[in-house]
Amino acid sequence: RRSSVEALLASQELDREVLVKGWVRTRRGNKYVQFIAVNDGSTINNLQVVADAEKFPEETLKDVATGACVAVRGTLVASQGKGQSVEIQASEIEVLGKADPETYPLQKKGHSLEFLREIAHLRPRTNTFGAVLRLRHALAFAVHQYFNDRGFFYVHTPIITGSDAEGAGQMFRVTTLPDQNPPLNEQGQVDYKEDFFGKATNLTVSGQLEGEVAAMALGKVYTFGPTFRAENSNTARHLAEFWMIEPEMAFYELEDNMGLAEDFLKYLVRYALEKCPADLQFLNDQYDKELLGRLQFIIDNDFQRLTYTEAVEILKSAKQKFEFPVDWGTDLQSEHERYLVEKHFEKPVILTNYPKDIKAFYMKLDEDGRTVRAMDVLFPGIGEIIGGSQREENLEKLQQRMQEMHVPEEELWWYLDLRRFGSAPHSGFGLGFERLVLFVTGMANIRDVIPFPRFPKNAEF
Ligand code: 4AD
Ligand code: MG
Repeated sequence: RRSSVEALLASQELDREVLVKGWVRTRRGNKYVQFIAVNDGSTINNLQVVADAEKFPEETLKDVATGACVAVRGTLVASQGKGQSVEIQASEIEVLGKADPETYPLQKKGHSLEFLREIAHLRPRTNTFGAVLRLRHALAFAVHQYFNDRGFFYVHTPIITGSDAEGAGQMFRVTTLPDQNPPLNEQGQVDYKEDFFGKATNLTVSGQLEGEVAAMALGKVYTFGPTFRAENSNTARHLAEFWMIEPEMAFYELEDNMGLAEDFLKYLVRYALEKCPADLQFLNDQYDKELLGRLQFIIDNDFQRLTYTEAVEILKSAKQKFEFPVDWGTDLQSEHERYLVEKHFEKPVILTNYPKDIKAFYMKLDEDGRTVRAMDVLFPGIGEIIGGSQREENLEKLQQRMQEMHVPEEELWWYLDLRRFGSAPHSGFGLGFERLVLFVTGMANIRDVIPFPRFPKNAEF
């Protein structure tokens, strides 16, 4: 039976026969002995295979090139070399899949992250993407663990929807391919409006509204799925397809919502530190020497809570000159958010009670009639990592907001029904999963923390 590299490296049981399968990272040596570094993805570390060059014909060894897939049988022994405690003394080497060194795109020397984006089908075989993908897995698993342990139910919200959850109009339209003789409109073009079997539908921008449906029946729920935004933004923080975690809780007010968001983020960071120490150490050493310190800092410190209005005061009296002016009523730019988090407070910030006009229609109106019970969690190096709010539970007030913001009532009759029948205070938030992975891995570009990034003009794989 095959053992994983991770299990073998941790093994205390030496001088036994083992079988390992994986991909060759490097091979070096001389005419007496060859050293082959094998990685099988179970860990960032390679297993060293030592092959007596006289025992293996040059023909076989030639095929044991960087990128090839091999199966190695041999004895697990203590290693004399530095960097590893055990190694395999090979008795059999089988090349399962060759890789031509002349054309294999990944070479020993290392490649830029930009280049690796062009070979998204091979980049998981690098140390960096191995580490990122294992961390992504650990964090996704931790999300479910956290909520399951606390009595939340996982609900599956739809990807094809008939409504715009954010009322922001950043949606991808769903169409079906026209048949042989598609009905044409007056201009003689295929009438895509009539598609999805006669109903106009979009890819969801958020599972929140359906999450509210579930919360008003099951109490505490969360969704965790892909969401889509048709924004043409080429930034290091935006994707057209990203994953979002959205808890929604009946009987939670804004304070409770903030408490949950802070506890949840700390839990996720702690989980990554506990479960992926080797991957994080690698990323720390390779890309960002302050990564581990920053992660620990998040766990150890309370987030700073303040209102939008207070933040505007701070920004107005700041010595720093901003590119965009700060005025009560306008949305904060990322330079403003960064100033608050990285310069002024030097810790994560939860900003609340934004002006109603710059937030979504469903947020609960404050008593002043000008602000809403919104909360954004801002993180160092990331900016907004969470957006959430207490929801408007009053039917008339919600209808009023929808009218003011031109959100069509007929699309959301079912959402309004939640306020007609057994309404209750409730709150929730959305955590952008890739922004979380970005923060935890210390990577600089969101395109490098999702296996197949979707951004304008990029959908090759
Ligand atoms: O602030 P947003 O738009 O909020 C919502 O969608 C609410 N319905 C959430 C809720 O209350 N249930 O998005 C939430 C989070 C942002 O804070 C950000 O982390 C992430 O989703 N996000 C993106 N991540 C990557 N690429 C994009 N284009 C993103 N847009 C939002
Ligand atoms: Mg937001």
